[in-house]
Amino acid sequence: MTLLLQAHAEGLGACMMAGPIVAKTEIQALLGIHEPWRMVGAIAMGYPTGEAPVRGRKPVDRVVQWIDEEI
Ligand SMILES: Cc1cc2nc3c(=O)[nH]c(=O)nc-3n(C[C@H](O)[C@H](O)[C@H](O)COP(=O)(O)O)c2cc1C
Repeated sequence: MTLLLQAHAEGLGACMMAGPIVAKTEIQALLGIHEPWRMVGAIAMGYPTGEAPVRGRKPVDRVVQWIDEEI
């Protein structure tokens, strides 16, 4: 998250991807990643060719459910 925020602050576009984990063994060998390090994802990064459209946020009540329960 911090890397994505810093990339944005520096005018870069970035996207977190867990999909490349399917080739984890091959990618780790290619990049020389050894224990105790391990790949948990990949971040594509580059300079955007233009402004990304601003997307709205879903209303909070569509993404949060409050459970009010006595313990
Ligand atoms: C842990 C994690 C893994 C993700 N893996 C992928 C992925 O493998 N492929 C992909 O297209 N997007 C993946 N995403 C989603 C993108 O990073 C990004 O959130 C999504 O494309 C929406 O971006 P936007 O909100 O800027 O449109 C992942 C997001 C997270 C948080």
